[in-house]
Amino acid sequence: MKSEKLNEALPCHVGIIMDGNGRWAAKRGITRTGGHTEGLKTARRIVETASNRGIRYLTLFVFSTENWKRAALEVDFIMSLVKQHLVRELDFYRKNNLRIRHTGDVTGLAPDIIAEIDEARADTKDFNGMQVILALNYGGRDAIIRAARRFLLQPLNNSCAEAASALNEDELSRNMDNPDVPDPDLIIRTAGEFRTSNFLLWEAAYAEYFITDKFWPDFSTEDFDAALAAYAARERRFGANAKIGAGRR
Ligand code: IPE
Ligand code: IPE
Ligand code: MG
Repeated sequence: MKSEKLNEALPCHVGIIMDGNGRWAAKRGITRTGGHTEGLKTARRIVETASNRGIRYLTLFVFSTENWKRAALEVDFIMSLVKQHLVRELDFYRKNNLRIRHTGDVTGLAPDIIAEIDEARADTKDFNGMQVILALNYGGRDAIIRAARRFLLQPLNNSCAEAASALNEDELSRNMDNPDVPDPDLIIRTAGEFRTSNFLLWEAAYAEYFITDKFWPDFSTEDFDAALAAYAARERRFGANAKIGAGRR
Protein backbone atom coordinates (compact mmCIF):
# COMPACT_ATOMS: atom_id res chain seq x y z
CA MET A 1 0.00 0.00 0.00
CA LYS A 2 1.34 3.40 -0.85
CA SER A 3 1.76 6.21 1.63
CA GLU A 4 -0.23 9.20 0.53
CA LYS A 5 0.71 11.50 3.35
CA LEU A 6 2.82 14.48 2.41
CA ASN A 7 5.00 16.32 4.89
CA GLU A 8 3.52 14.86 8.01
CA ALA A 9 5.81 15.51 10.94
CA LEU A 10 5.45 12.06 12.48
CA PRO A 11 6.12 8.90 10.49
CA CYS A 12 3.24 6.44 10.54
CA HIS A 13 5.48 3.45 9.84
CA VAL A 14 9.11 3.18 10.97
CA GLY A 15 11.42 0.35 9.92
CA ILE A 16 14.64 -0.37 11.78
CA ILE A 17 17.71 -2.25 10.55
CA MET A 18 19.05 -3.16 13.98
CA ASP A 19 22.72 -3.59 13.08
CA GLY A 20 25.97 -3.67 15.05
CA ASN A 21 25.36 -6.21 17.81
CA GLY A 22 28.52 -8.11 16.85
CA ARG A 23 30.73 -5.03 16.72
CA TRP A 24 29.29 -3.80 20.01
CA ALA A 25 30.29 -7.12 21.58
CA ALA A 26 33.74 -7.18 19.95
CA LYS A 27 34.47 -3.72 21.37
CA ARG A 28 33.83 -5.15 24.84
CA GLY A 29 35.71 -8.38 24.25
CA ILE A 30 32.58 -10.49 24.68
CA THR A 31 30.95 -13.03 22.37
CA ARG A 32 28.64 -12.01 19.53
CA THR A 33 25.79 -13.74 21.36
CA GLY A 34 26.29 -11.28 24.23
CA GLY A 35 25.74 -8.50 21.68
CA HIS A 36 22.48 -10.06 20.53
CA THR A 37 21.23 -10.38 24.13
CA GLU A 38 21.91 -6.69 24.65
CA GLY A 39 20.34 -5.87 21.29
CA LEU A 40 17.11 -7.51 22.37
CA LYS A 41 16.95 -5.23 25.43
CA THR A 42 17.32 -2.25 23.10
CA ALA A 43 14.55 -3.58 20.87
CA ARG A 44 12.18 -3.79 23.82
CA ARG A 45 13.07 -0.25 24.91
CA ILE A 46 12.60 1.18 21.42
CA VAL A 47 9.27 -0.62 20.96
CA GLU A 48 8.07 1.16 24.09
CA THR A 49 9.46 4.52 22.96
CA ALA A 50 8.00 4.24 19.47
CA SER A 51 4.60 3.37 20.89
CA ASN A 52 4.77 6.30 23.32
CA ARG A 53 5.63 8.66 20.47
CA GLY A 54 2.52 7.63 18.54
CA ILE A 55 4.14 5.51 15.82
CA ARG A 56 1.46 3.20 14.36
CA TYR A 57 3.68 0.53 12.73
CA LEU A 58 7.21 -0.52 13.63
CA THR A 59 9.01 -3.11 11.51
CA LEU A 60 12.09 -4.58 13.15
CA PHE A 61 14.65 -6.38 10.98
CA VAL A 62 15.44 -9.32 13.22
CA PHE A 63 16.94 -11.91 10.87
CA SER A 64 17.48 -11.78 7.12
CA THR A 65 17.25 -14.51 4.50
CA GLU A 66 21.02 -14.03 4.17
CA ASN A 67 21.77 -14.35 7.89
CA TRP A 68 21.64 -18.17 7.55
CA LYS A 69 25.20 -17.81 6.21
CA ARG A 70 26.37 -17.24 9.79
CA ALA A 71 27.70 -19.90 12.16
CA ALA A 72 24.99 -22.33 13.31
CA LEU A 73 25.69 -21.42 16.92
CA GLU A 74 24.91 -17.75 16.32
CA VAL A 75 21.81 -18.53 14.22
CA ASP A 76 20.48 -20.91 16.88
CA PHE A 77 21.13 -18.33 19.57
CA ILE A 78 19.23 -15.59 17.72
CA MET A 79 16.29 -17.94 17.12
CA SER A 80 16.22 -18.96 20.79
CA LEU A 81 16.26 -15.28 21.80
CA VAL A 82 13.29 -14.57 19.55
CA LYS A 83 11.38 -17.52 20.96
CA GLN A 84 12.22 -16.56 24.55
CA HIS A 85 11.14 -12.99 23.89
CA LEU A 86 7.78 -14.05 22.46
CA VAL A 87 7.14 -16.38 25.38
CA ARG A 88 8.26 -14.05 28.18
CA GLU A 89 7.17 -10.67 26.90
CA LEU A 90 3.60 -11.34 25.91
CA ASP A 91 2.48 -9.45 29.01
CA PHE A 92 4.52 -6.45 27.91
CA TYR A 93 2.74 -6.47 24.54
CA ARG A 94 -0.61 -6.94 26.20
CA LYS A 95 -0.09 -4.12 28.72
CA ASN A 96 0.97 -1.76 25.95
CA ASN A 97 -1.86 -2.81 23.64
CA LEU A 98 0.67 -3.81 20.96
CA ARG A 99 -0.15 -6.09 18.07
CA ILE A 100 2.56 -8.52 16.96
CA ARG A 101 2.87 -9.48 13.32
CA HIS A 102 5.42 -11.20 11.14
CA THR A 103 6.90 -10.64 7.72
CA GLY A 104 9.21 -13.05 5.94
CA ASP A 105 9.18 -16.65 4.80
CA VAL A 106 7.64 -18.69 7.61
CA THR A 107 8.25 -21.91 5.73
CA GLY A 108 11.99 -21.53 6.38
CA LEU A 109 11.54 -21.27 10.15
CA ALA A 110 11.64 -24.08 12.72
CA PRO A 111 8.21 -25.38 13.82
CA ASP A 112 8.68 -24.20 17.42
CA ILE A 113 9.38 -20.63 16.26
CA ILE A 114 6.40 -20.71 13.89
CA ALA A 115 4.22 -21.90 16.77
CA GLU A 116 5.36 -19.01 19.01
CA ILE A 117 4.84 -16.45 16.26
CA ASP A 118 1.37 -17.83 15.55
CA GLU A 119 0.45 -17.72 19.21
CA ALA A 120 1.76 -14.17 19.68
CA ARG A 121 -0.10 -13.06 16.56
CA ALA A 122 -3.34 -14.66 17.69
CA ASP A 123 -3.06 -13.34 21.26
CA THR A 124 -2.49 -9.75 20.15
CA LYS A 125 -4.62 -9.60 16.99
CA ASP A 126 -7.33 -7.41 18.53
CA PHE A 127 -4.97 -4.87 20.11
CA ASN A 128 -5.30 -1.52 18.44
CA GLY A 129 -2.08 0.13 19.62
CA MET A 130 1.14 0.13 17.62
CA GLN A 131 1.74 -2.87 15.37
CA VAL A 132 5.16 -4.47 15.80
CA ILE A 133 6.12 -6.35 12.66
CA LEU A 134 8.95 -8.81 13.16
CA ALA A 135 10.95 -9.31 9.97
CA LEU A 136 12.26 -12.79 10.60
CA ASN A 137 13.72 -14.87 7.79
CA TYR A 138 12.94 -11.78 5.78
CA GLY A 139 14.48 -10.70 2.48
CA GLY A 140 13.12 -7.92 0.29
CA ARG A 141 13.71 -9.86 -2.93
CA ASP A 142 12.24 -13.01 -1.43
CA ALA A 143 9.16 -11.03 -0.31
CA ILE A 144 8.62 -9.72 -3.86
CA ILE A 145 8.99 -13.20 -5.35
CA ARG A 146 6.51 -14.66 -2.83
CA ALA A 147 4.04 -11.86 -3.65
CA ALA A 148 4.44 -12.49 -7.39
CA ARG A 149 3.82 -16.20 -6.84
CA ARG A 150 0.66 -15.47 -4.83
CA PHE A 151 -0.54 -13.22 -7.61
CA LEU A 152 0.15 -15.81 -10.31
CA LEU A 153 -1.59 -18.56 -8.37
CA GLN A 154 -4.87 -16.65 -8.07
CA PRO A 155 -7.67 -18.52 -9.81
CA LEU A 156 -8.55 -15.48 -11.93
CA ASN A 157 -5.29 -15.93 -13.84
CA ASN A 158 -6.28 -18.36 -16.53
CA SER A 159 -3.36 -17.68 -18.80
CA CYS A 160 0.09 -16.12 -18.67
CA ALA A 161 -1.09 -13.34 -20.94
CA GLU A 162 -4.01 -12.51 -18.66
CA ALA A 163 -1.76 -12.49 -15.62
CA ALA A 164 0.81 -10.30 -17.35
CA SER A 165 -1.75 -7.68 -18.32
CA ALA A 166 -3.37 -7.70 -14.89
CA LEU A 167 -0.14 -7.26 -12.94
CA ASN A 168 0.53 -3.74 -11.73
CA GLU A 169 1.97 -2.06 -8.61
CA ASP A 170 -1.29 -2.22 -6.67
CA GLU A 171 -1.77 -5.92 -7.44
CA LEU A 172 1.75 -6.80 -6.33
CA SER A 173 1.33 -4.70 -3.16
CA ARG A 174 -1.91 -6.52 -2.44
CA ASN A 175 -0.04 -9.81 -2.48
CA MET A 176 2.75 -8.85 -0.08
CA ASP A 177 2.82 -10.45 3.39
CA ASN A 178 0.86 -7.69 5.16
CA PRO A 179 -0.92 -5.71 2.46
CA ASP A 180 -2.84 -3.55 4.94
CA VAL A 181 0.38 -2.14 6.42
CA PRO A 182 1.27 1.21 4.83
CA ASP A 183 4.70 1.71 3.26
CA PRO A 184 7.42 2.75 5.69
CA ASP A 185 7.95 6.49 5.99
CA LEU A 186 11.23 6.30 7.86
CA ILE A 187 13.96 3.65 7.91
CA ILE A 188 16.56 3.82 10.64
CA ARG A 189 19.82 1.90 10.30
CA THR A 190 22.34 1.65 13.11
CA ALA A 191 26.07 0.83 12.96
CA GLY A 192 26.85 3.19 10.10
CA GLU A 193 26.32 1.05 7.01
CA PHE A 194 24.86 2.84 3.98
CA ARG A 195 22.97 -0.05 2.43
CA THR A 196 19.54 -1.63 2.53
CA SER A 197 20.77 -5.23 3.11
CA ASN A 198 17.59 -6.42 1.37
CA PHE A 199 15.16 -4.68 3.78
CA LEU A 200 11.71 -3.65 2.49
CA LEU A 201 12.93 -3.19 -1.08
CA TRP A 202 9.45 -2.85 -2.53
CA GLU A 203 7.86 -0.83 0.25
CA ALA A 204 10.70 1.61 0.92
CA ALA A 205 10.62 3.22 -2.53
CA TYR A 206 9.98 6.63 -0.95
CA ALA A 207 11.05 6.04 2.64
CA GLU A 208 13.34 8.56 4.30
CA TYR A 209 16.56 7.05 5.65
CA PHE A 210 18.26 7.89 8.93
CA ILE A 211 21.65 6.30 9.51
CA THR A 212 23.57 6.53 12.74
CA ASP A 213 27.02 5.23 13.69
CA LYS A 214 25.70 3.98 17.04
CA PHE A 215 25.70 0.21 17.41
CA TRP A 216 22.21 -1.16 18.02
CA PRO A 217 22.73 -2.04 21.72
CA ASP A 218 23.72 1.61 22.32
CA PHE A 219 20.75 3.06 20.42
CA SER A 220 18.75 5.11 22.91
CA THR A 221 15.40 6.83 23.22
CA GLU A 222 17.23 10.09 22.46
CA ASP A 223 18.62 8.57 19.26
CA PHE A 224 15.12 7.51 18.25
CA ASP A 225 13.87 11.04 18.91
CA ALA A 226 16.76 12.42 16.84
CA ALA A 227 15.63 10.20 13.94
CA LEU A 228 12.07 11.51 14.30
CA ALA A 229 13.34 15.09 14.37
CA ALA A 230 15.43 14.49 11.22
CA TYR A 231 12.37 12.99 9.55
CA ALA A 232 10.21 15.98 10.50
CA ALA A 233 12.72 18.29 8.81
CA ARG A 234 12.70 16.40 5.50
CA GLU A 235 10.70 17.53 2.52
CA ARG A 236 9.09 14.49 0.92
CA ARG A 237 8.37 15.10 -2.71
CA PHE A 238 7.47 11.69 -4.12
CA GLY A 239 8.84 12.81 -7.45
CA ALA A 240 6.86 16.05 -7.57
CA ASN A 241 8.37 19.53 -7.68
CA ALA A 242 10.08 21.03 -4.67
CA LYS A 243 8.10 23.61 -2.77
CA ILE A 244 9.69 26.98 -3.36
CA GLY A 245 9.98 28.54 0.05
CA ALA A 246 12.35 30.24 2.40
CA GLY A 247 15.87 28.94 1.94
CA ARG A 248 15.00 26.88 -1.13
CA ARG A 249 15.69 27.72 -4.75
C1 IPE B 1 22.57 -7.22 13.80
O1 IPE B 1 23.84 -7.22 14.33
C2 IPE B 1 21.81 -8.48 14.18
C3 IPE B 1 21.59 -9.40 13.06
C4 IPE B 1 21.93 -9.22 11.82
C5 IPE B 1 20.91 -10.66 13.37
P1 IPE B 1 25.04 -7.97 13.63
O2 IPE B 1 25.13 -9.34 14.21
O3 IPE B 1 24.94 -7.91 12.14
O4 IPE B 1 26.27 -7.11 14.11
P2 IPE B 1 27.56 -6.71 13.28
O5 IPE B 1 27.11 -6.10 12.00
O6 IPE B 1 28.34 -7.97 13.05
O7 IPE B 1 28.27 -5.74 14.15
C1 IPE C 1 20.96 -6.63 8.27
O1 IPE C 1 22.17 -6.66 8.93
C2 IPE C 1 20.04 -7.69 8.83
C3 IPE C 1 19.52 -7.43 10.18
C4 IPE C 1 19.73 -6.37 10.88
C5 IPE C 1 18.68 -8.47 10.71
P1 IPE C 1 23.40 -7.51 8.38
O2 IPE C 1 24.48 -7.38 9.37
O3 IPE C 1 22.96 -8.89 8.03
O4 IPE C 1 23.75 -6.75 7.03
P2 IPE C 1 25.10 -6.73 6.19
O5 IPE C 1 25.59 -8.14 6.07
O6 IPE C 1 26.08 -5.88 6.95
O7 IPE C 1 24.73 -6.09 4.89
MG1 MG D 1 25.61 -6.62 10.76
